[in-house]
Amino acid sequence: MPSASSPIWSSIGKKILMSLTGLAMFGFLLGHLLGNLPLLMLEKSADDYNRYSHFLIGLGGLLILIELILLGGLLFHAWTAVSIVRGKRRARPERYHKVQSAGGASRKTLGASTMILTGLVILLFVPLHLKTFKFGPGASGEKEYVTVVDGVEMRDLHKLVMETFQDPIYVAWYVLAMICLGFHLSHAFWSAFQSLGLYHDRYTPWLYSGGRVLAFLISAGFLVVPVWIYFMEGSQ
Ligand code: HEM
Repeated sequence: MPSASSPIWSSIGKKILMSLTGLAMFGFLLGHLLGNLPLLMLEKSADDYNRYSHFLIGLGGLLILIELILLGGLLFHAWTAVSIVRGKRRARPERYHKVQSAGGASRKTLGASTMILTGLVILLFVPLHLKTFKFGPGASGEKEYVTVVDGVEMRDLHKLVMETFQDPIYVAWYVLAMICLGFHLSHAFWSAFQSLGLYHDRYTPWLYSGGRVLAFLISAGFLVVPVWIYFMEGSQ
């Protein structure tokens, strides 16, 4: 464990570790979105979706290791963000009166100025999300949530997702959380590259725009799934 005076705990060291954990979660989100987009095909996706989740569960120890790394990364990311903000407040106790975009490279956008708020919403969203799906009905083998695909018994996670998104409260909460995720990512991607020192006059504007487009696609992709299921599955 590095000592308290180690450079790794300096503000720059923290930002670098935050960027690396953030980028790892970004990678997870891309994969998770690709795994969930087939849900847009509603009942047609049932077997493939359950097969995919059964495959993931079958990874056993490897999956648990990846989950622990992601969980550690998320907690570390959140703790570091809060400690950087507290450090800045200590260094400059009086607040700025007005947050304004300074244009150019300052990037004081809505996404940038609401990072802590949107981050806290995501931090609340993740455990509730895991409770709903990962540890929700069927996690202990309840018969109503067991299905057979290719002759193999497995958890009917597809049924749980379809049922969950029939509840307008859940759908509204997911929409709100995904908008927050979009704002958070819209600043995070560019900021991570900047903290890692990857700055280039020609490529940085592309990275900045590309990051915002990716953030939009990821949050819009996650947002569309519950809304689509709510309206389309309900009408079948
Ligand atoms: C439409 C939106 C989403 C749907 C339908 C969805 C669905 C699911 C389901 C069904 C599981 C359980 C998988 C299993 O137990 O095998 C799961 C796990 C998980 N989800 Fe989501 N998810 C969505 C969005 C998100 C978002 C936006 C995040 C993060 C901000 C997220 C983070 C996670 C995490 C960390 C896990 C645990 C992964 C694992 O242990 O394998 N999900 N999701």
